[in-house]
Amino acid sequence: MSEVQSSFQQALIGNRNMEDTNKFLTKFRGCYFANTQLNLENLENLDDFEIRDDDVFIITYPKSGTVWFQQILCSIYFEEHRKGIGDLETVERIPFIEYAPQKVDFAEKPSPRLFVTHIPYYLAPRGLKNKKAKVIYIYRNPKDVMCSFFHFLKKLTASTTDNFVEFMKVFLEGEVVGSLWFDHIKGWYEHKSLFNIQFLMYEEMKKDLRGSVLKVCKFLGKELSEEDVDAVVRQATFENMKNDPRANYDNKLKAHFGIQKKGHFLRKGTTGDWKKIR
Ligand code: PPS
Repeated sequence: MSEVQSSFQQALIGNRNMEDTNKFLTKFRGCYFANTQLNLENLENLDDFEIRDDDVFIITYPKSGTVWFQQILCSIYFEEHRKGIGDLETVERIPFIEYAPQKVDFAEKPSPRLFVTHIPYYLAPRGLKNKKAKVIYIYRNPKDVMCSFFHFLKKLTASTTDNFVEFMKVFLEGEVVGSLWFDHIKGWYEHKSLFNIQFLMYEEMKKDLRGSVLKVCKFLGKELSEEDVDAVVRQATFENMKNDPRANYDNKLKAHFGIQKKGHFLRKGTTGDWKKIR
């Protein structure tokens, strides 16, 4: 296992064999973040982050459909992306707040600004609680989240997480990026009245992608033609995304972690895969 692979794997889960379980995960105000590419300065200044009325935040617990929704939002907002032209990757159009390798000045970004983050509700910028900017929270069956996490790490490296039962303990103790699934979703759901927030379920998106796109367009006040909605849906299918280098994160994995086609963000994209785990 290369050093870079090892550090990425351990950045996603705490290595229980290590004395310092925070060596690869940073616990910031009670929540774990991966050390890799973590921009602590952004996290520390998040409370004062200046929010614009037309900002949109995708918020997820890891492995719940983040990359999928980045693609959907890119296609809704950018005609070029929707038409499959241009080579800007979704993560460049919709950057992570907490994982910003270079010092990016978000204040310089033209409106509408789109962001993605795994933060718990209590780290949300003060300005987000004025209900002007919009928040889209994607959630997924935690068993599939755990299964997706496990496979991602396992395929990424020849890892110590080959044992699912061992990984389940780690997951249930919240020693992963995002900490406890239940705390994350409960926090956002119980405080929903503070935000202008739309909840969307991964499983609903699987059942009716077009319906979910329409729901989101309505929430965002985006009126797309029938054809454009069709194009958004087409761009967001699993098969299309898997082959779309703008959307599948493969470039990022290779560039940052030296991964050679082993682990993918787009693995199976199904529901109920946890039943097949052993
Ligand atoms: S991460 O690492 O937190 O950003 O991961 P995240 O993007 O949240 O979740 C990865 C899982 O989402 C699945 N995915 C999709 N499912 C269905 N349709 C589409 N288009 C799609 N795009 C991504 C991806 O395959 C991961 O789930 P698993 O179960 O591992 O396949």
